[in-house]
Amino acid sequence: MSDTEPAASDAVPPVRTLAVIGAGSMGHGIAQTAALAGITTILHDVDQPAVDRGVAGIEAGLARMVARDRLSADERDATLGRLHATTDIQAAAGADAVIEAAPERLALKQEIFARVDALCERAIFLASNTSSLSLQAIAASTARPERVLGLHYFNPAQVLPLVEVVSPLTVDPAAVDAAEAYCRATGKTPIRVQDTPAFVVNRLFVPFALDAIRLLESGVASAKDIDRACQLGVAHKMGPLATCDLSGLDVLLDVADAMRAETGDARWNAPTLLRRLVSAGRLGRKTGRGIFDYSEVG
Ligand SMILES: NC(=O)c1ccc[n+]([C@@H]2O[C@H](COP(=O)([O-])OP(=O)(O)OC[C@H]3O[C@@H](n4cnc5c(N)ncnc54)[C@H](O)[C@@H]3O)[C@@H](O)[C@H]2O)c1
Repeated sequence: MSDTEPAASDAVPPVRTLAVIGAGSMGHGIAQTAALAGITTILHDVDQPAVDRGVAGIEAGLARMVARDRLSADERDATLGRLHATTDIQAAAGADAVIEAAPERLALKQEIFARVDALCERAIFLASNTSSLSLQAIAASTARPERVLGLHYFNPAQVLPLVEVVSPLTVDPAAVDAAEAYCRATGKTPIRVQDTPAFVVNRLFVPFALDAIRLLESGVASAKDIDRACQLGVAHKMGPLATCDLSGLDVLLDVADAMRAETGDARWNAPTLLRRLVSAGRLGRKTGRGIFDYSEVG
């Protein structure tokens, strides 16, 4: 079989109702992708303002698609009709599958997985969008570790096509097939990866991004020029510092700290500048300012 051929069999059960846990940067994008693909989508967050921001983000995303003639007004309305945003986790009970996109903290994710495992009896797979945590450790909090795997989307999830499908040793291959089929059904391109720290993309990108911040910190070049160097010198679409701002500097710091703890390798040490920016609330685009200033971007 070639790398591009779908591995899932025809017998893979489809996901008709998806529950997304966490309506932040990633959760709302994952929910938008699902609802657009015709899937009834429950978007849950513990925080009502986060639910509201998530829905507003989806509405704005769909409005942009309509303005660019990529979606009709009727399709937009139908997509929004399939979206059910709520602070009540009970709404996830009937879901065929769950994707969790809550903050990158193991204890929190374990608590959520224990809850959805008990609640979503018919779920074919329970996926985490974790960037760096062990899926096996998350799976251990459930009574059905064979259903637990990683679906690692990239930011913005409604735009970027890649999903890393992460298989812990405990997962049933049928759940992996179902998750991969789900990704394809929603227009994504899955790649299969083992449950190793930071998988493929972050394993390569995060140390590179931390080095870019170290270059900035030591005054080697300006932020603009560091990004320009990567764009014009090695044909990156976006510079590493702008990418950090897009992902969220808090998210980057969480990944760096988790990887440092897991591997003990000094290349994951977070630069002081990154810690200072996060503690000052300069988290990137989502707060209007990070390494760059977006206050006039709107
Ligand atoms: N931001 C990125 O670039 C990116 C990329 C890939 C993966 N991830 C991963 O996705 C996950 C979410 O990241 P994000 O950037 O969307 O974070 P975020 O802070 O934007 O959103 C997290 C949301 O989870 C909610 N939440 C907290 N506790 C909850 C609970 N118990 N139940 C339900 N919701 C809860 C918060 O209110 C918040 O709205 C993390 O694991 C992160 O590592 C992030």
